[in-house]
Amino acid sequence: MQTSQLALDFRRNFPYFNNSDVCYLDNAATTHICQPALNAINHYYQFEHATVHRSNHTSATHNTNKFEQCRMQVAQHFGLADKKQVIWTKGATEAANIIAKGLCQNYLDEGDEVLLSEAEHHAHHVTWVEMAKQYKLKLVFIPYNENLQIDLVALQNLISAKTKVIAISHVSNATGVIQPIEQAIKISKQFQHIKVVVDGSQAVNHLTVDMAELNADFYFFSAHKMYSGTGLGVLLGQLNSLTLLSAPLYGGEMVRKVDYSNIEYNQLPFYLEAGTPNIAAVHAFSATLNFLSSVDTAALHQYQHQLMCYLKAQLQTIPFVQLLNGDQVSATSFVISGLHTADAAELLSQMKIAIRTGFHCAMPFVTKLANQGTLRVSIAPYNTVEEIDYFVQSIQKLETFLD
Ligand SMILES: Cc1ncc(COP(=O)(O)O)c(C=O)c1O
Repeated sequence: MQTSQLALDFRRNFPYFNNSDVCYLDNAATTHICQPALNAINHYYQFEHATVHRSNHTSATHNTNKFEQCRMQVAQHFGLADKKQVIWTKGATEAANIIAKGLCQNYLDEGDEVLLSEAEHHAHHVTWVEMAKQYKLKLVFIPYNENLQIDLVALQNLISAKTKVIAISHVSNATGVIQPIEQAIKISKQFQHIKVVVDGSQAVNHLTVDMAELNADFYFFSAHKMYSGTGLGVLLGQLNSLTLLSAPLYGGEMVRKVDYSNIEYNQLPFYLEAGTPNIAAVHAFSATLNFLSSVDTAALHQYQHQLMCYLKAQLQTIPFVQLLNGDQVSATSFVISGLHTADAAELLSQMKIAIRTGFHCAMPFVTKLANQGTLRVSIAPYNTVEEIDYFVQSIQKLETFLD
């Protein structure tokens, strides 16, 4: 296999690669930021810096309009008709917390059941475990099958009259396996009272997400996993579900009228966004979406798929590597028998390889699956065949360190 010209051209948009000799295969943790997003951040602070929604001077009005245009752009990108369906957060973790707390406060009653997949990232898992404790809910885990996907038959059987929420992820961050969320949502939507929450953090960069088609009640992710900056998350939702959420913070611009005893809250999305938002990160994300629409993403995804198959095929030939195989889009995990993941991480880091090792913030799942930490290698279309070859050769060299 050869690195495609398209991939090389795409890579040129990521300045990190001009200054680094690291073989970066930790894209599931965070992707590199693209030049257009960096330019947008610079441009904002150099020429446009002013607040939004508060002041009425020219720069502030310009920024408010631009900020709301960015919101509309994100809505359209994800198949939503109304920009009120896009809530800015600090990241996926904050979005998961806002959704869970809101549903607990305004939708769930003591004894109600929440179905949570066994394979969730701690952002989803820990949040729901805590909410279940605090609000006396019953947490029921949806098992996974031999393909490392949620078991749809089990899901159907687990739903009861008490089930009010189903919380799942679109792609597992621990194994990289794509989950059958379309079918899971169809099953759930046979019951009108069930709200479906999808963690899309590992999916948005690789799969098309059309919220109108998908019909999830909530879908969230972080912008830094999609070639943009840190500090921005996106919470998407259907209007009737978003109105169930409570303000996560109190403060400025989330209110309409305040006196010494009463508060009239603002409408969606503003009452969920108290305080000055991360305006630069919103500009950056908008620039990222523009950039992505200017490249051939379908061809890049095809290249990434080929690179993924190439990587897995080579890893499978290494006798001491046990691959957690499945329908994976950009990440795969494996165990090396006879070598602790912490030692593997140290050795690979010395070889200038960046991957993630350990439990991937999905400790219950990874423990159940592998009984130890794993090595997760995650790619993006800017990765080259040479990097994959170097990575596989480096893994082969670990043989001398096996117990
Ligand atoms: C599936 C999944 N959910 C949630 C998160 C949390 O994202 P953040 O740390 O940006 O809030 C991550 C990050 O690794 C993730 O992979």
